[in-house]
Amino acid sequence: MRTLAVVGGGVIGSAVAWGAAAAGWEVTIFDPSPGSGASWVAGGMLAPLSEGWPGESAPLEFGAASLARWPEFGARLAAVTGVPVFVADQTLTVASDAADAADLRTIADFGGEYGHRLELLDRSGVRAAEPGLARTVRAGLLAATEPAVDNRLVLDALRQGCEQQGVHMMVQAVDNLDDLEFDRIVLATGAAAARLWPGLPVRPLKGEILRLRHRPGAPPPPRRVIRARVHGRPIYLVPRADGIVVGATQYEAGFDTAVTVAGVRDLIADAEAVLPAIGEYELAEAGAGSRPATPDNLPLIGRLSEHVIVAAGHGRNGVLGIPLTVDAVLALLSDDILPEAKAADPQRFSTQHAHPDAGTHAASPAGGNR
Ligand code: GLY
Repeated sequence: MRTLAVVGGGVIGSAVAWGAAAAGWEVTIFDPSPGSGASWVAGGMLAPLSEGWPGESAPLEFGAASLARWPEFGARLAAVTGVPVFVADQTLTVASDAADAADLRTIADFGGEYGHRLELLDRSGVRAAEPGLARTVRAGLLAATEPAVDNRLVLDALRQGCEQQGVHMMVQAVDNLDDLEFDRIVLATGAAAARLWPGLPVRPLKGEILRLRHRPGAPPPPRRVIRARVHGRPIYLVPRADGIVVGATQYEAGFDTAVTVAGVRDLIADAEAVLPAIGEYELAEAGAGSRPATPDNLPLIGRLSEHVIVAAGHGRNGVLGIPLTVDAVLALLSDDILPEAKAADPQRFSTQHAHPDAGTHAASPAGGNR
């Protein structure tokens, strides 16, 4: 049996391990703290359109191809645990002023060009859809095909799926890929991937996020994912079985994952401006994570050397990108290329887009020493 090391036990690494084990590989995951990091703090939105913007057609197409795989993938996860992972079926982006309403029309036109169904709602349409939203909301954009999952249920299902498939778990860090004696290695350490492959154009992009628990007597969570811009800051509210996830700040801070007072203050104030009832919820958790960002908002999925494949750099859309990434990596393990993931080949940076901190491999992310 051929052996595979997966370095990184977040959603991407675990899903790749699960899929590869099912395909006949003997798989070992290496992670000092499996299922923590960005996978744990994430919101779980599957929203390539609502996260998209004109000019960024490649991330939209990648995200849409992965979203198309989610119904089947989500059903397989639910079959492992018996617990459905979906928490919302749709996304509603709302506007409180004329500029934001104009942005909604821009996004609607952009999505329409790619054949996606987006519906503009007026004030009464928004109120009918989500009665708990603030009266200041004047327009909305309904993405009827953009759902959300509970990322922690996804992690749990992946952990159990890996166990069922006989994946070995090594709760330890890897300092050097050369130490791993396996037929193939998948590098899936998210924002930290460049530590093991210097020059890989991926960097941490900090995000703070809150988990609010519903209290008896408080109005229920929204039925859909709600997105908005408040004082120029994007905010989202993702329903959960027991409350709402409120996210997220976004700024460059290296690998810092401390939760700041200012971050929590802004998230609460902005969320309350959209959904006034959140003041009645319990503030259950405040967390922060490092999104694995790339210069062009597409992930890095491809061969770095004969033995090493990277699956990292999913930015704001790691949970969305799981099923397509698994299929792409399984194809690479069979010396094949999945057409829908071709744009994510790390070789696209081989000449002009090396990371500023790049080390000896800066000229070519695929030019490593293995
Ligand atoms: N996917 C939303 C975020 O990264 O905050």
